[in-house]
Amino acid sequence: MLIKRRDGENPPPPPVEEEPGLEAEEEHAPEYSLRTPTGIVGLDKIIDGGLLRGKTYLVAGETGTGKTIFSLRFILKGIEIGEPCVYVPFDETVESTVEGALTLGWDLETPMRRNMLRILDARPFFAEVTREKFMAEVVREIVKELKRHVSEIGAKRLVIDPVAPLVGEVVDVSWTRDFIRGFVTAVEKFLGCTTIITSEVPTGSGLLSRFGVEEFLSSGIIKLSITPIENRNLRTLMVRKLRWTRVDLTPYVYEIKPLEGIVILEPLHEYVKKLKE
Ligand SMILES: Nc1ncnc2c1ncn2[C@@H]1O[C@H](COP(=O)(O)OP(=O)(O)O)[C@@H](O)[C@H]1O
Ligand SMILES: [Mg+2]
Repeated sequence: MLIKRRDGENPPPPPVEEEPGLEAEEEHAPEYSLRTPTGIVGLDKIIDGGLLRGKTYLVAGETGTGKTIFSLRFILKGIEIGEPCVYVPFDETVESTVEGALTLGWDLETPMRRNMLRILDARPFFAEVTREKFMAEVVREIVKELKRHVSEIGAKRLVIDPVAPLVGEVVDVSWTRDFIRGFVTAVEKFLGCTTIITSEVPTGSGLLSRFGVEEFLSSGIIKLSITPIENRNLRTLMVRKLRWTRVDLTPYVYEIKPLEGIVILEPLHEYVKKLKE
């Protein structure tokens, strides 16, 4: 779908100033495709074709719900349609990400060689994060480094998986919240990518994000859960919020399968009805 961009859609001012190497992204061309597909089987249909370009989305869920697999599928779809990607994993090294993806039949090495994908080793990358520095300075350094990678391969998609360890050990939750707020705002302003951040919520907490700010900063929230039904644990996905998109809040049952990754089956209530038949 080609539509005209409306004026006045810029995100609020970030806490960092522009400087060489950190210029704000150019306005989009007057005509461009508004949405970009996630590649998750069944999801794009539910969300009117995909995510809004250049916006930030939160994929939240307990450990093992499939946040990383969701992220990788989003990346592989990007590669398939000519949108280079930068992936920043925090739970895994570059090598273990590549090896893990192979268990699902996904080859990440070829797109890496072709400069369609860059996986960043996040640990040294964010070693700079210390509370002795002014927060705006830390955010500026991290976003500048990300921008360098994004520019080098012309990335259109970015995934930070998960966003919390970015801030190192959490000593002061309000510092962490302010940091995440500054970081996400600057990422939208300076990188211009369609971005997924994941957030690992504590098991059984029912929270939407780890620090309670990620959900307000993002243009949409996709919640992955494990729902106990009839003595079984079902994987369920719910689109909790999606700006400028009709959402029906129906939980959908999904499976994790090789090659396709996350596969949405049907609404939970229909699935349960069939179980009882
Ligand atoms: N090769 C695979 N085939 C089928 N299911 C898999 C495969 N690899 C992982 N899974 C499933 O995906 C889950 C982990 O998904 P992951 O995206 O790493 O979760 P999260 O990032 O939310 O912790 C595992 O618990 C497992 O059930
Ligand atoms: Mg993960």
